[in-house]
Amino acid sequence: MTTAELFAAEDFNEPPVEPLAPGAVLLRGFVRAQASELLAAVEAIVAEVPWRRLVTPGGQRMSVAMTHCGTLGWFSDRRGYRYVAADPHTGRTWPPMPAAFMSLAGAAAAEAGFAAYVPDACLLNRYEPGTRLSLHQDRDERDLGAPIVSVSLGLPAVFLWGTPQRRSDTPRRIRLVHGDVVVWGGPSRLAFHGVAPLAQGVHELTGACRINLTFRRAG
Ligand code: SIN
Ligand code: FE2
Repeated sequence: MTTAELFAAEDFNEPPVEPLAPGAVLLRGFVRAQASELLAAVEAIVAEVPWRRLVTPGGQRMSVAMTHCGTLGWFSDRRGYRYVAADPHTGRTWPPMPAAFMSLAGAAAAEAGFAAYVPDACLLNRYEPGTRLSLHQDRDERDLGAPIVSVSLGLPAVFLWGTPQRRSDTPRRIRLVHGDVVVWGGPSRLAFHGVAPLAQGVHELTGACRINLTFRRAG
């Protein structure tokens, strides 16, 4: 199968659906069988838009490197956090969302109870050992009725899963490994979440990094 083709719903690993909170589930190993094709699609995106460490509105450079595909890309610089249709550095539109990404996001969302999910943005994050993502809410999307679908590839990570109410609520620590998918929407859509500093390691497909894809309905 090439990455241009759609995955069929029955291709995905039928996992036990592990509830995390109302509207949030963990699908262990959901895309393990598709990982090589997904990583090939990631490489094609990176060839067009290289990994970059963006600057926060406060002027700090993020430790996690990012790239983007879809009609909208989440972006950050001194002007703020926002979705943009074109790369502010080059003026070019983002690479289109690969069909394989669309089908996996739709299948994972359906598994979590969100039918007819059509994301328009995918943020790709690359974590090297020692990098982390502090607790935050994904709240720059116009459509908060649609869930977030998050795919883990490469090195394992500790996902920090908080509550929608308060950043200060102690998050659960959930180990995510290659092929795992987390979906959060509905009452959990604004849950605080983050990633603990990545441990050292080498993964056979990604080397010394973890790659995360998050799908969003942004526009
Ligand atoms: C994110 O919150 O954008 C990424 C979460 C992750 O890397 O698991
Ligand atoms: Fe996030």
